[in-house]
Amino acid sequence: LVNELIRKNRSYRRFDGSHKVSDSILFELVNNARLSSSAANLQPLRYMIVNSAEKAQAVYDTVKWAAYLPDWAGPKVDERPSSYIVILGDKSYPNYHYIDAGIAVQSILLSAVEKGLGGCIFASTDKAKLREELDIDVDLEVILVLAIGKPTDKVILTELPPEGDVKYWRDDSDIHYVPKRKLEDIIVATFSERNE
Ligand SMILES: Cc1cc2nc3c(=O)[nH]c(=O)nc-3n(C[C@H](O)[C@H](O)[C@H](O)COP(=O)(O)O)c2cc1C
Repeated sequence: LVNELIRKNRSYRRFDGSHKVSDSILFELVNNARLSSSAANLQPLRYMIVNSAEKAQAVYDTVKWAAYLPDWAGPKVDERPSSYIVILGDKSYPNYHYIDAGIAVQSILLSAVEKGLGGCIFASTDKAKLREELDIDVDLEVILVLAIGKPTDKVILTELPPEGDVKYWRDDSDIHYVPKRKLEDIIVATFSERNE
């Protein structure tokens, strides 16, 4: 089951614009992030749930979609996600925020995929503009923005040869391909007595 969720959990960048994710689902997703691991159990992450058309548009205007697809202007109005979750870090804690945020975002995405939803993580966002639009407290650092919606993108994983190009790409039918390194290319050593 986890194998399937991980394979389905792609970065989706086109959504069914008519599908509006409910507040309660977004709260449930963040609740799963809340229960995830945290370095020294400091739990420095804070969240903003963006689920109004006006604020979703404001967040949309700050994020950068698919840097490897320079000819694509991003999802059209009717392909945009209804919702965003902004992941923030309380600056008064030491620097474990980023690892915690990675774990949290994966918990959120896997939970979303299980519900037939999906998302895209954004590190590329105009943080100054986002802070202003969402009135983010100075004590909170913007770590990631996560788009959530009902995906319509078709995404296929392909094999990446050792010297191949990591860039994702789309074919003429707009199917999105994501090259992944092979297992033998990323396990650099195995110390084992059970090589059955
Ligand atoms: C930390 C992080 C930051 C990312 N930032 C962006 C971003 O700013 N814009 C974007 O379109 N995709 C972003 N992505 C999505 C990656 O491009 C995507 O994970 C990668 O192409 C592999 O595709 P996959 O998620 O379907 O495996 C980000 C992913 C991660 C993990």
